[in-house]
Amino acid sequence: MKDQILLVQNDALAAIAAAPDARSLEEARVSVLGKKGSLTVLSAGMKDVPPAEKGEIGQLLNSARTAITAALDAKQADLQEIADRAALVGIDPTLPARALPAGAVHPLTLLRERAVGILRRMGFALADGPEIEDEFHCFDALNTPADHPARNAKDTFYFDSGKLLRTHTSSVQIRMMEKCAPPLRITAPGTAYRRDEIDSTHLSAFHQLEGLYVDTDVSLPDLKGTLEAFLREMFGADTAVRFRPHFFPFTEPSFEIDVKLEVKGQAPRWIEVAGCGMVDPAVFEAVCQSRKDRAYDPEKVTGFAFGMGLERLAMIQWGIRDIRLLIENDVRFLRQFA
Ligand code: DAH
Repeated sequence: MKDQILLVQNDALAAIAAAPDARSLEEARVSVLGKKGSLTVLSAGMKDVPPAEKGEIGQLLNSARTAITAALDAKQADLQEIADRAALVGIDPTLPARALPAGAVHPLTLLRERAVGILRRMGFALADGPEIEDEFHCFDALNTPADHPARNAKDTFYFDSGKLLRTHTSSVQIRMMEKCAPPLRITAPGTAYRRDEIDSTHLSAFHQLEGLYVDTDVSLPDLKGTLEAFLREMFGADTAVRFRPHFFPFTEPSFEIDVKLEVKGQAPRWIEVAGCGMVDPAVFEAVCQSRKDRAYDPEKVTGFAFGMGLERLAMIQWGIRDIRLLIENDVRFLRQFA
């Protein structure tokens, strides 16, 4: 039995050493270690070995198996290395890799993320709402009368169903107040749609960033302080900001906000960036009716709201003269922001 074991071991090691490829190596393995392999058959003979010799024979069998397995592994590694080398013939793996062009975010995305980040640090949570809206959320609840020009079919994209593409992100104010009781502090970036002729300052699909803050004692100085701080963080600490009285149906008082744009070699100009104001009590009343509770009782809560045009902010930030550059996807333009 001892001799047989040594014989099987030597034969196996010789067959392994001689195997020219993976297939013959596998054949060698099966012929020794497989179900009917020579070593397997020998091991099965253990049961007939006299008890006194079992220890020694067992050890021999084990060391044969270990030696054969190690030889198989080593040979397999050798064969693999040979195959790898063959695969590399004619290829220089030390050459530097070909550079993959790196993508970058669109300038509007960049700007939106910065704006949302600043507002998040001021406690405004991210919110959104549908782009296909109904007249209630886009207009009625925002205190916009039926004969207001913004509701005109000439200015707004209506569907046959009576729904429409939202003309501003202010509809998200209503959606969020319906869902959440005050205090509420949200910002909602999103797309808005108007039937405008496209030119250097108008797109028919554009982006806005809405904001709303409602609590028991929100006041005009809160609005002013928050938006000034926001704009200075966006455009630099010495950015001049001015609030001009204006009219919006959903705020009272209402303002438009201008930022002073100072470009070298040009006279400074005031550029309008946002609308804002104190939420009109009529808006809170509409929300109460829709919620069927008094959570937004205008006698108890006050709030401010604002909406800015993201394209506008981008044009100011980077001195972009034509808004259409932001949707044409010309990489020569976009690459400058990468
Ligand atoms: N929705 C207005 C627009 O599209 C912008 C705006 C003005 C939003 C005043 C507001 C606001 O939240 O308070 O022109």
